Amino acid sequence: MTSPNQPARPPRPDGSYWRMRPRAPMPGTELGPLSDIADPGAKEFTFGGGKSTFSMFVVRRGDEVFGYLNICPHYSSPLNARADAFMNEDRTLLRCTMHFAEFRIEDGFGVAGAAENCWLDPVPVEVRDGVVRIVG
Ligand code: FES
Repeated sequence: MTSPNQPARPPRPDGSYWRMRPRAPMPGTELGPLSDIADPGAKEFTFGGGKSTFSMFVVRRGDEVFGYLNICPHYSSPLNARADAFMNEDRTLLRCTMHFAEFRIEDGFGVAGAAENCWLDPVPVEVRDGVVRIVG
């Protein structure tokens, strides 16, 4: 039960929004070798071009990977200003470089800053035979 002094946590995204975005890659699309992603670290992947570019990123933590749309729930901006810069200094949280909102790596929940209590939209990813791919 939610306390009257605490805002209700917004529902977790259903996980299918990414498929409705323009230029969304097909489930099963290979993104590349896991070894191309720093550990811990993150890497951006884009599909298409121009205003309808589909941008997502994959975060690596050991053998675990987590994928998200590169859209901050605060202003709908990309989270990164530099290539593959999606994390805080000690690489324990995801960070939007626009207004420094921070999100948990494992589920994309906003824990601090301008997007606190909001969610990143997930893109389901997995590692098979050392290759990161979108879950098919
Ligand atoms: S656009 Fe990401 S915190 Fe404002």
